[in-house]
Amino acid sequence: MNKLQNRFNKNVYEIAVSLIRQFDEKVSGIPNMLKLTLGEPDFNTPEHVKEAGRQAIKENFSHYTGMSGLMDVREAASRFLSEKYTVNYDPSTEVLVTVGATEALSASLLAILEPGDKVLLPAPTYPGYEPLILLAGAEPVYIDTRESDFVLTPEQIDQAMAAHGDKVKAIIITSPSNPTGVAYNEAEVAALSKTLAKYSVFVISDEIYSELNYEGQHVSFGKYLREQTILINGLSKSHAMTGWRIGFIFAPAELVAQIIKVHQYLVTAAATVSQKAAVRALVQGISDAEVMKEEYRERRDFVYQAMTKLDFKVARPSGAFYIFAKIPAGQEQDSMAFCIDLAEKNQLALIPGIAFGPEGEGYVRISYAASMETLVDAMTRLSAYIND
Ligand SMILES: Cc1ncc(COP(=O)(O)O)c(C=O)c1O
Repeated sequence: MNKLQNRFNKNVYEIAVSLIRQFDEKVSGIPNMLKLTLGEPDFNTPEHVKEAGRQAIKENFSHYTGMSGLMDVREAASRFLSEKYTVNYDPSTEVLVTVGATEALSASLLAILEPGDKVLLPAPTYPGYEPLILLAGAEPVYIDTRESDFVLTPEQIDQAMAAHGDKVKAIIITSPSNPTGVAYNEAEVAALSKTLAKYSVFVISDEIYSELNYEGQHVSFGKYLREQTILINGLSKSHAMTGWRIGFIFAPAELVAQIIKVHQYLVTAAATVSQKAAVRALVQGISDAEVMKEEYRERRDFVYQAMTKLDFKVARPSGAFYIFAKIPAGQEQDSMAFCIDLAEKNQLALIPGIAFGPEGEGYVRISYAASMETLVDAMTRLSAYIND
């Protein structure tokens, strides 16, 4: 035994290996496996964006940038948001370029959380939040949204605030959502904002899937609740740029002034070559997501129809690239057991709903970031499994 193995920050021991990874390890040895588990676009980064990256390397953009990122990127990001979602942030004081949305989340949560604080999480939820909350010594409080078809309601916020009071420091809202695909419309964002405005809580609005809304316009919390919102976005999903690691924080100057200190000591700044490519994506590539969106929409319609025919129940998958489906009655309801059996018998890997918290039990998540051919094959395998 290594004498240091018990000497880590005690909060680190609270962080579990993700169930997604555990599931992946269980099924990855099975031959001919078809995986719909991926949480990233299957498209490549657009050519003109890659060219901007190559150009930046040639021109020796190999030095640090200022910690908030190049002014060009912040201006472009600010314009992108203003044109698309009618929210306005001053590029000189209210925008930070981060290392993906992930670092935007870590820097924000580490900047605001203290031991004993609570963070509200509408559940089922993206599994990347809880470990960051635990690391800061804070506690996640899950709000079960199953009864309202995964839509958080103002009443649920009031109830959680009444139960947990001043201990609640923040809420994290994801719209469009991973894993459910639910996206809040204008009326819902307005109503939630009105309720949240009553409380002194930070609203961390993870809008990383904002460009992938298939039913209507994306509505940002920055529009209705600017003062309290730490708006998080990035290029991973909109421009298929997961590996470039570019994200953003948009928030009032007083909030950015604190978060930037954590960001500086975590990462110094985002990679310079990636930032140069980001300018191209945000300016010339302002509509790059459109082509991908059309394809995702077709795939979503196909998977939605195929799954409903097989008696899976699916609530409003209007954004992102996931379908979160209730396992039909008569089938194994333990989502991990269901997914392992499906993988073993018909070589199809879906993510067990339990990976998104206890509120995800009884569900599976399908990512349709895969070619239509793959999805047709997947639905044939699922149908064979269900009807066997
Ligand atoms: C809801 C949500 N937030 C954040 C992220 C992380 O994004 P990034 O790759 O920009 O760090 C993901 C990635 O899957 C996500 O689904």
